[in-house]
Amino acid sequence: MDDFLKDLKNLRKKAEDEISRATTFSELERIKTAYLGRKGILTSKFKDLVSLPENKRPEAGEIANEIKLELQKIVSQKIEKLKIKGKKEKEETFDYTLPGIKIATGKLHPLTQISSQIVEIFYGMGFEVVYGPFVETNYYNFDALNFPLDHPARDMMDTFYIDEKRLLRTHTSPVQIRVFERRKPPVRILAPGRVYRNEAINARSYCVFYQVEGFYVDYNVTMADLKGVLLAFVQELFGKDVSLRFRASFFPFTEPSAEVDISCVICGGKGCSVCKHRGWLEIGGAGMIDPEVFKAVGYDPETYSGYAFGMGIDRMAMLKYRIDDIRLFYENDLRFLRQF
Ligand code: DAH
Repeated sequence: MDDFLKDLKNLRKKAEDEISRATTFSELERIKTAYLGRKGILTSKFKDLVSLPENKRPEAGEIANEIKLELQKIVSQKIEKLKIKGKKEKEETFDYTLPGIKIATGKLHPLTQISSQIVEIFYGMGFEVVYGPFVETNYYNFDALNFPLDHPARDMMDTFYIDEKRLLRTHTSPVQIRVFERRKPPVRILAPGRVYRNEAINARSYCVFYQVEGFYVDYNVTMADLKGVLLAFVQELFGKDVSLRFRASFFPFTEPSAEVDISCVICGGKGCSVCKHRGWLEIGGAGMIDPEVFKAVGYDPETYSGYAFGMGIDRMAMLKYRIDDIRLFYENDLRFLRQF
């Protein structure tokens, strides 16, 4: 019995020493298994209990058990110590002078960015945003907008037809009709979105591009209201010194109609290669909504009047960001997109 207890005490001392000297988790794990594992030294001591006289066994067993519990406790304490040590070492080896790791973030496409800006500006002037479908019918894209049947814009050259009746919208103006059909004046709407044209592709034109349509119908809406809203808009987008002019033009759905120019935002109107030395840049078309359009949707042209305008978003983005090739917007070259 005495020998047995002496053995146990030595064992405990040895194990304790080894545990306290351990410097890594794997070392500690190995020591733990050697003593406390299923085939460990201490575990085998329990089996030796049977060799003791029967009356001594309970006391010896109790002592062996105490030692086992103590060793388990020492191991857990050591684990905590090693954890704290590891943390400290990590902190000590962290080099605060190293450059940070750059986190890659997504960005909005430049056309999306400028669209949002445009929407924001008109929103501030009381316009509400509406989106129309990209696949339109002849009726909305042309007929209801007073395009004569033989109008060249209906030609296969410009329009992507899907079948006899359906096509990819060539402008955002059909949204006017869709809104007028559903609502009664006053309506003050902004309709940005994608349009499609079967045109030759080059630095200035692409088969897909973006337009923003705006229109306002109410009692006594005038051309002066139209010009005032557009001037406020371009000055907000391009700066306070930008001026605006209307040039007489023709659109089937407006009368009178105008081409909308702004003073060149690159040279300030003096003349440069971007404005082709004219000092002015065209940004869209506008006019007073034609009575024929009102008749098509059941608005009384004697009671109401309204203006409409349509502008190229790509064009405005090109001017704002000084981009000289529209195709860059559609190629998704990351070297280009990352600049925005
Ligand atoms: N829809 C015309 C186009 O794509 C642009 C336009 C001109 C829209 C005059 C209008 C407008 O609303 O009044 O060329």
